[in-house]
Amino acid sequence: MPHILIAGGTGLIGSRLVDLLQETDYNVAVLSRRASSSGGIKTYQWDPAQGTIDREAIEQADAVINLAGAGIADRPWTPGRKRLIMESRTQSTALLRQTILSTSNEVRTYLSASAIGYYGDAGDTWLEESAPAGKGFLAESTRAWEEAFHEVEKLNIRAVALRIGIVLTPVGGALGKILLPFQARVGGYFGSGKQWYSWIHMEDVCRLFLHALENPDMRGIYNGVAPNPVSNKELVETIGNVKGGPNLIAPVPAFLLRTAMGEMADVILNSSRVSAKKTEATGFTYLFPELKPALEDLLIG
Ligand SMILES: NC(=O)c1ccc[n+]([C@@H]2O[C@H](COP(=O)([O-])OP(=O)(O)OC[C@H]3O[C@@H](n4cnc5c(N)ncnc54)[C@H](OP(=O)(O)O)[C@@H]3O)[C@@H](O)[C@H]2O)c1
Repeated sequence: MPHILIAGGTGLIGSRLVDLLQETDYNVAVLSRRASSSGGIKTYQWDPAQGTIDREAIEQADAVINLAGAGIADRPWTPGRKRLIMESRTQSTALLRQTILSTSNEVRTYLSASAIGYYGDAGDTWLEESAPAGKGFLAESTRAWEEAFHEVEKLNIRAVALRIGIVLTPVGGALGKILLPFQARVGGYFGSGKQWYSWIHMEDVCRLFLHALENPDMRGIYNGVAPNPVSNKELVETIGNVKGGPNLIAPVPAFLLRTAMGEMADVILNSSRVSAKKTEATGFTYLFPELKPALEDLLIG
């Protein structure tokens, strides 16, 4: 059984990906800043900020999947937090690269998360992987992360980065936050609500990592989004529709969000209409290409 090491495998995507890879008969281990292991998964320790890593983690791995990075929207974007968001990604990638390079065992495949934040605020334009990086901190930090990824590509291994969209899961992430006011039967869309949200169901993003792991023709950057992005307003209205009952859907003005969140409001106000064409051309088929069935699966089961 091939050994897969997942850096940041304790997080939202990692927890489901660990299970999916185990169900598919891979031997999975996790690389974490914390020593504790859960659910019988072998856990190796590292500290990217200090440049320390248990080298055995890499010595036993046939493939490495890197999901590590400080949460984008967990805390206000102070200068220190922005530095942490960027460095936790560039330093972890550089440490994995250096350890792969200096370890005798040959890691054959390296997969990494990236993010559609790369494209910045791009209006109605369809965004293929060749589109230029946008402006603002989300784009700058993602570009720096991908520059570190391109250094890994220079090693003689197959490397793939997925520019992941908004991952839909009821247990946290963006959808968890959007769902909160629905407890009071109110839904809020942000600003004009016209900005494009490129989403992907949790199951599909994890299946896409598995597909990239098993597809020797995939190399480089791919968008990790469903093929049918929607406007922010359509997302909120469809949630209301799927949850049923009377729901008041009201706008939250952009200036209020900017006042409350500062630059971090980019996370919810940026418009990214991201194309899945290149990903589909690899033969990947989505379980949930359309939003409504995805939400029905997540919210009703
Ligand atoms: N979820 C989404 O909607 C989405 C969308 C686009 C891109 N992505 C990207 O996909 C990756 C995985 O997403 P996720 O939602 O699973 O993230 P997550 O739940 O925040 O998990 C990321 C993991 O990174 C590790 N980490 C946190 N802070 C770190 C730091 N300062 N230095 C090194 N490692 C740190 C943590 O593992 P330990 O505590 O065990 O070390 C954590 O479990 C992230 O890089 C994220 O930016 C996610």
